[in-house]
Amino acid sequence: MKSDLPPLSIYLHWPFCAAICPYCDFNVHLMRDMQPQQWRAAYFAELQYAFSQRSQGPVQTVFFGGGTPSLMPADMVADILSEIDRLWGLAPAAEITLEANPVSAPQAHLADLSAAGITRLSLGVQSLDDAALKFLGRTHSAADALAAFRVARQVFSHVSLDLIYARPGQSLAMWRDELARVLAEAPDHVSLYQLTIEPDTPFHRLHAAGRFAVPDEDSAADLYEMTQDMCAAAGLSAYEVSNHARDGHACRHNIASWRGGDYLGIGPGAHGRLSDGQARRATIALKAPQAWLAQVEAQGHGWAEDKILDDEERRTEMLLLGLRLVDGVALSDIAMGGIQLPADKHLALQQAGILLPSDSHLIASPQGRLVLDHLIAELLPS
Ligand SMILES: C[S@@+](CC[C@H](N)C(=O)[O-])C[C@H]1O[C@@H](n2cnc3c(N)ncnc32)[C@H](O)[C@@H]1O
Repeated sequence: MKSDLPPLSIYLHWPFCAAICPYCDFNVHLMRDMQPQQWRAAYFAELQYAFSQRSQGPVQTVFFGGGTPSLMPADMVADILSEIDRLWGLAPAAEITLEANPVSAPQAHLADLSAAGITRLSLGVQSLDDAALKFLGRTHSAADALAAFRVARQVFSHVSLDLIYARPGQSLAMWRDELARVLAEAPDHVSLYQLTIEPDTPFHRLHAAGRFAVPDEDSAADLYEMTQDMCAAAGLSAYEVSNHARDGHACRHNIASWRGGDYLGIGPGAHGRLSDGQARRATIALKAPQAWLAQVEAQGHGWAEDKILDDEERRTEMLLLGLRLVDGVALSDIAMGGIQLPADKHLALQQAGILLPSDSHLIASPQGRLVLDHLIAELLPS
């Protein structure tokens, strides 16, 4: 039934960066010989195909993720948003986020992106320590990042900062000082990620060769706890594992996808989720930019996988995503999703401090949010 469809979001992936960070395992590629006209046409074609698959709008949120979408020409961003508006309609107060690198965020470009329709900027600051930025392979200084943040705040009403902590050799005192300097900027939203060593990255090889070590589990847990406390004291309470916001500044796009909303995945490697009556469909586009482009040009879309999720996949996804949020998952939604929680497990996990006590919701404690895979395995024994 059409009217029962969840609100719609769009994730658009821009796969290019000016430099590839050694820790990153996102779908990223160096920007060489990129033809803007060709890419604009391919995004338009895939949007039109997506519309043929799900036409009911309006679109509530759009997220330009990457890669480094601040490298997109602002007129391409404007054209894509006009096309989305023409096809589905953009809701009047739609949230439209774009991820930015401080190096590709000069004031004039940010002003053009704002004029193009971007309402929220997510800026990759990563650290306020120049030596750490160098280690992370960043091509900007802490001063550059802060300058970009201050300019962005004048341009956009919603600006978020990304930082990576739990870095090699980072003590509690060092992170306390760095985070205090971030919070002194009075941001409305911060995404604070612990450094993860991802397979097939330069950091993985260096780490495996013993060139650096990351904080052990206990130290990482202490860093996490201090992060929660300092952000809460600064009025930026956690609303998800790594995300903190002042009231009214949480990222609506990410919340919608963690809550099981519908989103279309546009661009190389993008994932989508679409509801259709009882079924939930998962789409994944080809990852390699040239392969994606070639398929879009030949077939009108780059989607390589398009399947209906089975019951187990839906249940796992509901818990895995919903438990990331501090509000957790309503027990009524869990029952509707056909999940039967073992009552003794529920209690045992509360007593172990992994779940918080609640009669209406399943809520992971801050410690529980750090071990979500383990928690899901306990809650959904196969
Ligand atoms: C898709 S990236 C976009 C960053 C943007 N291109 C830039 O250059 O700032 C989103 C965020 O994920 C985080 N991230 C990526 N890889 C990570 C890793 N291995 N460990 C922790 N955080 C990571 C970074 O904070 C990054 O800003």
